Amino acid sequence: MSHPPIVSDLIVVGCGISGLAAAIGAAEEGLSVTVLTKADEPWQSNTYYAQGGIVGNGQDDSGDKLAKDIIAAGVGLNWRESVHLLASEGPDLVDSLLVDRAGIPFSRNGKGELDLTREAAHSVRRIYHHKDLSGRSIQEGLLAYAAQLEGRINIYPHMQALDIITNNHHSTDSQERYRPLRAIGLYVLDARNNEVMNIYGSSIILATGGVGGVYQHSSNPSLASGDGISMAYRAGAAILNAEFVQFHPTTLFHRDVKNFLISESLRGEGGLLVNLDGERFMSRYNPDMMELAPRDEVSRAIYREMDRTGTACVFLDARQIDMNLEDRFPGIHEKCASVGIDISREPIPVVPAAHYFCGGIKVDLEGHTSLPGLLAVGETACTGVHGANRLASISLLEGLYFGYRAGKRSADSGVTPSSRLRKSIPEWIFPVEEDDIDPILVKNDRNTIRSLMWNYTGIIRNRKRLNRALSDLNYFSHRINSFYREARLSRKLIELRNTVVTASLITRAAKSNDNSIGCHYVE
Ligand code: SIN
Repeated sequence: MSHPPIVSDLIVVGCGISGLAAAIGAAEEGLSVTVLTKADEPWQSNTYYAQGGIVGNGQDDSGDKLAKDIIAAGVGLNWRESVHLLASEGPDLVDSLLVDRAGIPFSRNGKGELDLTREAAHSVRRIYHHKDLSGRSIQEGLLAYAAQLEGRINIYPHMQALDIITNNHHSTDSQERYRPLRAIGLYVLDARNNEVMNIYGSSIILATGGVGGVYQHSSNPSLASGDGISMAYRAGAAILNAEFVQFHPTTLFHRDVKNFLISESLRGEGGLLVNLDGERFMSRYNPDMMELAPRDEVSRAIYREMDRTGTACVFLDARQIDMNLEDRFPGIHEKCASVGIDISREPIPVVPAAHYFCGGIKVDLEGHTSLPGLLAVGETACTGVHGANRLASISLLEGLYFGYRAGKRSADSGVTPSSRLRKSIPEWIFPVEEDDIDPILVKNDRNTIRSLMWNYTGIIRNRKRLNRALSDLNYFSHRINSFYREARLSRKLIELRNTVVTASLITRAAKSNDNSIGCHYVE
């Protein structure tokens, strides 16, 4: 059974595109990197499930054009410096790291050129994809590339980070409380044997992904419980723009399949949205752009249509698309077929779902949070790139670029915790008498929180709903915290604790912003 080392140059928590890019950037600088993931396998991340693709160098494209599209989607709330940096340097990193070095097999046309696709609100074709399996190809390619870096990157599955260790908060040496605050390590649960370890790093990068698992309907795997955001918040790091949760209009609605995205590119290729009566209802909401209206508008239209007709879903009809659907959309075709839906013969039942967190842990251009020693990258970080809403297919680019950058720069900013300091940190304290967790309570609490977030802090918000959400969440926080102190630790329990913290952060931010902007919509 392999354990992570007690001290590394860099600890990365999370194993999607941003975590792997950070690990690769740091390993290229000669650092030893410990990557922790709570998943059972290193490939299990949000990245793996991305379908659409990643923004690269487009036709007749430029950094300025890309920046303009990003800022238009973000309704101008974006941090300009961060956008311009990403737009001018990000696409070249896609070419050099993903295409040239990691050899990701992006789809190509008959001439062997990259097949550039387009999604809503992009002014040119600039998205690299591998059919509808882009995330899977990127994840697999980066894992294979990371493995080649002379053993400098070691990935440990089943490792759930519990809390960030800082000198000020945890050291038993009274002098440490007067020294500058710094994150020095993590308490980590090894889910295989229920042991908690103290793990230290010169720097710690959180790359723990998004918050979709806080909502009843989500395109993210249920692992996405806002763990990094919740840990950073408990340690005192600043959180920014938490009201901006982007909802995707279409995920598969089926009793046996949860969290499966039906890519926007299906609508891009001509898929139509219809209600139970077969009516193209988008004509009532945006007659000019119809199915290709901005994501948040389409999500609201579907939500209203479901409410108006009293149905639990609408339908995406791909039958009229003039291409071989099995070849262009193998992932969607296969998943739907697995539950008896032939997408070339019948409409797909779909429901909107929480998809992407535009807010997160506030970081600077190098990924540093407001807590020294702690960095954050990818969806868990707020780089300011997305402002109030996110442009499609930009998240993988953001994760790659800022992840790689933070990994490289962490070589300059790390401070190894001394053995004296490490000795002054207590072991994790288990309750004297641990209660066995009743799994039904944990499951039901999480489901109740997901349902209240969907209904009250969801696609359409108002003051009454947000007040209700907050008072229910306060009650749950209190209950879950006392439960957490007495019960035996497990991944599900830790996720429940993080879910209630993250849900409260989103709801409080939503309540403090009365203006509808981007994906935050208040009526
Ligand atoms: C999609 O394929 O519809 C999602 C792409 C994205 O969110 O960037």
